Amino acid sequence: MTDLPKKLHIKTYGCQMNVYDSERMTEAMVAQGYVATDTPEDADLILLNTCHIREKAAEKVYSDLGRLKPLKAANPDLRIGVAGCVAQAEGAEIMARQPAVDLVVGPQAYHRLPGLVARANAGEQALDTDMPEEDKFEHLPQSRGPAPRPTAFLTVQEGCDKFCAFCVVPYTRGAEVSRPAARLLSEARALVARGVREITLLGQNVNAYHGDGPDGRTWGLADLIWALDGIDGLERIRFTTSHPNDMDDALIDAHGTCSKLMPYLHLPVQSGSDRILKAMNRKHTAAQYIEVIDRLRSARPDLLLSGDFIVGFPGETEEDFQDTLRLVERVGYGQAYSFKYSARPGTPAAEKAHVSSEVATDRLHRLQALLSEQQYAVQASMVGREVSVLFEKAGRQPGQLIGKSEYLHAVHAVAPDSLLGQVARVRVTEAKTNSLAADLI
Ligand code: SAH
Ligand code: SF4
Ligand code: F3S
Repeated sequence: MTDLPKKLHIKTYGCQMNVYDSERMTEAMVAQGYVATDTPEDADLILLNTCHIREKAAEKVYSDLGRLKPLKAANPDLRIGVAGCVAQAEGAEIMARQPAVDLVVGPQAYHRLPGLVARANAGEQALDTDMPEEDKFEHLPQSRGPAPRPTAFLTVQEGCDKFCAFCVVPYTRGAEVSRPAARLLSEARALVARGVREITLLGQNVNAYHGDGPDGRTWGLADLIWALDGIDGLERIRFTTSHPNDMDDALIDAHGTCSKLMPYLHLPVQSGSDRILKAMNRKHTAAQYIEVIDRLRSARPDLLLSGDFIVGFPGETEEDFQDTLRLVERVGYGQAYSFKYSARPGTPAAEKAHVSSEVATDRLHRLQALLSEQQYAVQASMVGREVSVLFEKAGRQPGQLIGKSEYLHAVHAVAPDSLLGQVARVRVTEAKTNSLAADLI
């Protein structure tokens, strides 16, 4: 009998940083001889890369674990691991609550995954939620061969020092750390050599990036963007997620002057009420946020804005909520994410008296109605316009390709396969609910 390679299945929850981390964990295990599989049923190692941001996200992990547990009866060699932010927040409790879990690894320790898997296979305790000093990315293998997609994420900054009163991220990801610019540039060049045309720089507070520059200075995000701009073959640069207080002049300016920087910006505000912003410890007012938006728009008038909102934060009155609606009216979003406040263990806001769930649900519906209206109006305004699309994959209809416009709209057009991985000009012919139809020019 030949030894078949072991198979790894990773399920990813939460934000893009987890998507990036899942790719790195896959590479680390491929270097150990594993092959990736899309189906948990034939896997020898299943990893859930989890999110702790809201209660629902964290609880989903346990229902998924319950569903995976019976697979162990069919394959006694199967090992199940929990990675990511739930792993960091709950540690050994996870194994106590679901004994089918063999391994727990936090988001700052996963460069040690191969050793942990070996321990789990040997039937030993396999738990690592350290936040070591060393840079985990320095300890991970680099991929080779053609990139699976023409777009890639690149984590440049991790962790958060802002401590918004509702948020677990400073606890699950630890303090803000920026990776050295030289290392990021060489990773970016390697991605481009493998066929990547668009890089999205990632960080929980990506615009607070302050990494060691190759010239001995500390680089901000704008410095990094300009250095990436100089890489031949890289056509598009994006970054996410930003904090309004870290939007400095150089970065605002880059939106007007760097042609590779795409005109789409996710800039969460959470609330339009100064009283609630203060209680949230956001350290900015609604007016300051709007001022940043106005400056960005004078640098780049067609900038499409996206935001995050929380409704039902402790103490939020109908008047506060009206302030949020007013802010949304004033800004005009092309895309948005809105959530009902979820009390998270260990965060300051969790101690406060809550808005009733019915009231919060009602506000969420009203806010989402307004945001969808704005979103659709922006989509519809694209009809007849020329945009550029980076084609990423085949569409649903034969002969069709799908990609993203510079504004991050999904666009499909009849186009030859030779345009896969290329940027092409198209004219938008129709706005659908979640995408735009277009013709090649
Ligand atoms: N670093 C980013 C976002 C991190 S979390 C920032 O500073 O904006 C992504 C979004 O989840 C947040 O913007 C917020 O809208 C939402 N969120 C975070 N904690 C939450 C909570 N306890 N309840 C509901 N939504 C929450
Ligand atoms: Fe969370 Fe606030 Fe940090 Fe964003 S800035 S990750 S919302 S604490
Ligand atoms: Fe979730 Fe952790 Fe990202 S809590 S949103 S996976 S940083």
